[in-house]
Amino acid sequence: MSIVIIRQDDKMDVWVAAIKAIAPDIPVYSYLEEHDKEEVEVALVWKHPNGTLVAYPNLKYIASSGAGVDFIFEDADAPTHLPITRVVDTMLASDMSEYVIAVIFSHLKHLNQYKINQINSLWKPMDYHRIADFTVGIMGLGAIGTVLSKDLIRFGFKTQGWSLSKKSLKGIKTYAGQEELTNFLSTTQILVCLLPLTHTTTGILNKDLFEQLPIGAYVINVARGGHLVDEDILQVLDNGHLSGAALDVYHQEPLSKDHPFWQHDKVHMTPHYASVSDTQSVVPQILENYKRMKSGKPLLNLVSKSKGY
Ligand code: GLV
Repeated sequence: MSIVIIRQDDKMDVWVAAIKAIAPDIPVYSYLEEHDKEEVEVALVWKHPNGTLVAYPNLKYIASSGAGVDFIFEDADAPTHLPITRVVDTMLASDMSEYVIAVIFSHLKHLNQYKINQINSLWKPMDYHRIADFTVGIMGLGAIGTVLSKDLIRFGFKTQGWSLSKKSLKGIKTYAGQEELTNFLSTTQILVCLLPLTHTTTGILNKDLFEQLPIGAYVINVARGGHLVDEDILQVLDNGHLSGAALDVYHQEPLSKDHPFWQHDKVHMTPHYASVSDTQSVVPQILENYKRMKSGKPLLNLVSKSKGY
């Protein structure tokens, strides 16, 4: 009875070691090493190579080691009839909140433009913005969006939120569904996308949506590249409707070297690292679910198959 870890980044050893450190009795393997595939009950995955899960005939459930599970549904061969769990973690949420707030302050005070000016030895003061100038609108009011909304309120930002289904959160005005999207957008000067990527939300950050934001709005996408229509955001950045964008996620990761985002002076890029699962923080909940599975208790943080998150 064992756990297999399937991921393609350079963090395999860290995850194996973190599980062994807390639960030395549970056999845990990298999918790349020799192991008995029939014995594996849990696959702990992060952007696994498509098709790798079919090698495990006795899996009981699939655990994403991040908040998102879109990559599991994108694998046509993944046994998605099994339960799927995701990570809901306070550190993952607070890391994301810190990132978004850093980006917002950088936008308010033109820090990126000043860096470009510095490289060009250009002395050029620019009028700056204040917290009170902008309403921040968060799309996606799950665990991470909720923490972000609280932090923004603490800083004094006017904050509002939109979600697929109605949520009520202390201190912020909330909107829900397609019918309330226009009102939400028309009063949002800084838009933060934290939505899960599903059939419903794919391509939601498109020209039609951007044009409903006030002129000069700023867009932050920290969810998934699939939410964004790249050509559309380039168009509204170039025609001045948007003042800028901060992007952490892309259709293709790493982003191809010839993508126009790289050289765009209004695009601030980071390499899908706004917030990543910290093993110390996340492994205990992975092991808690393993114990629950062994003792027949319901798993925590189960994904709804109908919603896709
Ligand atoms: C990161 O992108 C995550 O889904 O945890």
